[in-house]
Amino acid sequence: MKAQVPIDKSRLIEFARRLPKAELHIHIEGSLEPELMFALAERNRVAIPFRSVEDVRAAYAFSNLEDFLDIYYQGMSVLRTEEDFFDLTMAYLNRARADNVRHAEIFFDPQGHTGRGVPFGVAISGILTALQLSRAQFGMTSRLIMCFLRHLSEEDAFATLKEAEPWLDRLVAVGLDSSEVGHPPAKFARVFRAARERGLKLVAHAGEEGPPEYVREALDLLAIDRLDHGNRSLEDVALVARLAEAQMTLTVCPLYNLKLRVVNDMRAHPLKRMLDLGLRATVNSDDPAYFGGYMLANFKAAIEALDLDAGDLRALARNSFLGSFLSEGEKRAQVAAIEQAAA
Ligand code: ADE
Ligand code: ZN
Repeated sequence: MKAQVPIDKSRLIEFARRLPKAELHIHIEGSLEPELMFALAERNRVAIPFRSVEDVRAAYAFSNLEDFLDIYYQGMSVLRTEEDFFDLTMAYLNRARADNVRHAEIFFDPQGHTGRGVPFGVAISGILTALQLSRAQFGMTSRLIMCFLRHLSEEDAFATLKEAEPWLDRLVAVGLDSSEVGHPPAKFARVFRAARERGLKLVAHAGEEGPPEYVREALDLLAIDRLDHGNRSLEDVALVARLAEAQMTLTVCPLYNLKLRVVNDMRAHPLKRMLDLGLRATVNSDDPAYFGGYMLANFKAAIEALDLDAGDLRALARNSFLGSFLSEGEKRAQVAAIEQAAA
């Protein structure tokens, strides 16, 4: 028999649903649901090594970042046309909207596409058209972040920044993702500086599987504006104090952490501890098609396992807008909307 969710927890989950939220850590390629993967494979006549949706779900039994990334890169091979990127992005935006996500800052991995012959312009055009449509149709705001794949060279990242030149006014930031260990932030210091000189904000995955030292490098050598994951910062007391003092936003991804065994049990998840330590933590879905759910599913898992109260949920929602790249005026309006929803 399925365990009952206690009534006060279900109220908190409903409260989390009602709160306006921003999502700051979502890889658009990680929102590719198996059903869409099959539809696109057929539409584009791309062979995939799965016979059914169930087959795909069974393959999602990874236990570390490398295993996940293998499947993630294989999955994105079905994305070939502008329409594919549009459909993918629209599907995510509709899901996010259902969870009352009002603003999304979306990662994409151009090198995952250009590396297999899909032009940069094809990927970004399809994504941008969906972002514009969701703004026009349901008032959802968004920003786009181009990530460099850290297992590739810095030279490759520079080439990608050059390809992005005609699109810079439609990008808010660059990020850094893919295999962390062995590819420290230091490897990308110069290309991040070049991105900053072009007016872009800077974010990076760090302290996900890599040590606290990688978080320090992201702060000191990349001068990031926001830290993706950052869980392993908790191993270093002085680093926690520094992150809290700077009010650095951490984009935490609870279901991802569970699925990739950053924690063995959601009850051991550090989200509540992060808030209590004064860290500006946020909740995000990372790769929702692969890790078991979108924004509200992540809140739900955290609420059910941890001792979060309504004040914590409000703080998480507020942090998500304060940590976003919206204007100060837009942030104020969203924080006011949170207070109204909470009243
Ligand atoms: N690419 C997509 N999701 C990622 C994650 N959580 N970490 C590193 N690279 C990624
Ligand atoms: Zn990520």
